[in-house]
Amino acid sequence: MVILRELSRSFREGRRIHHVLARASARVRRGETVAIIGRSGSGKSTLLNLIAGLDRPDSGSVEIDGCDVVRLHEPQLTRFRRRHMGFVHQFFNLVPTLDAGENVRLALELNGVRGREARERTGAMLARVGLADRAGSAIDTLSGGEQQRVAVARALVHEPALILADEPTGNLDGESAARVLTLLLALVRDRGVTLLVVTHDEALAAAADRVLVLHEGRLHERSPSLS
Ligand SMILES: Nc1ncnc2c1ncn2[C@@H]1O[C@H](COP(=O)(O)OP(=O)(O)OP(=O)(O)O)[C@@H](O)[C@H]1O
Ligand SMILES: [Mg+2]
Repeated sequence: MVILRELSRSFREGRRIHHVLARASARVRRGETVAIIGRSGSGKSTLLNLIAGLDRPDSGSVEIDGCDVVRLHEPQLTRFRRRHMGFVHQFFNLVPTLDAGENVRLALELNGVRGREARERTGAMLARVGLADRAGSAIDTLSGGEQQRVAVARALVHEPALILADEPTGNLDGESAARVLTLLLALVRDRGVTLLVVTHDEALAAAADRVLVLHEGRLHERSPSLS
C-alpha cells in the first residue's frame, strides 16, 4: 500500500547541510495501523509531509497504491491527495469561518460530492464521532476534543485509503486524547483504512499493529516484545 524507498531529505543551515532523512525505507500494508515514533527533531513531520506530497525528497520514492507521488506534478498531485488521503493534524487545522458540518462536507465537495449525498454522508460521519447535534456549531465553540473529532470526521468522510496523522492527540488532555484515539483506531479498522500516525503517546504506539522508530534519518522496526 505504502512503500518508502530510500527517502532522503536534507535542509541547508547556513553553510551546513542537515541530513534529516537519510535513505529511510519502509513498507506498510493495506489496513495496517503503524505508529511512527522518534525524538523531537528526528524528522517525523518531514517524513509525513513527503508521504503526503507536500514536500519533495532529495532522492527516493514514495509509492502509494502503485502510484509514485514524488513523480506526480500539480494538479494531479493535489487531486491524488484529496481523493486518497485524509489528514489529522496536531492543532486540528479546521477552517474557523466554517461550522463543524461545513468543515467535514468540504472534504467531500473537493472530491465532487455535493448536495444531498454530501449532507447525508456528513451527518452520518458526525454521528459516528459523537457530534450529531453539533453540525451547526462554530468551530471556536467546540472543546479541543470535539474539534479533533471533527478533524477525524473530515479526514475519513471521503473514504480515503490512507490517513496520515501527526500527533493527533498531542494537544489534548489525557481523557480527550484517549477518546479521540479509541475512535480513530476503531474507524480505521472498521473501514480497512491504512493509518500512519506520528505520536509520542505510548498508549497509541502500543495499540498500533507496528511501531517504526525514526532514528538518524532511518526507519527501524521496533519489535513488539519491547513495547
Ligand atoms: N523547511 C525546513 N527548513 C529547514 N529545516 C527544516 C525544515 N523542516 C524541518 N527542518 C528541520 O528538520 C528537522 C526535523 O524536523 P521535523 O519537524 O520533521 O521533526 P519532528 O520529528 O517532527 O519533531 P517534533 O517531534 O518536535 O515535531 C529539524 O531539525 C528541523 O529544524
Ligand atoms: Mg513534528
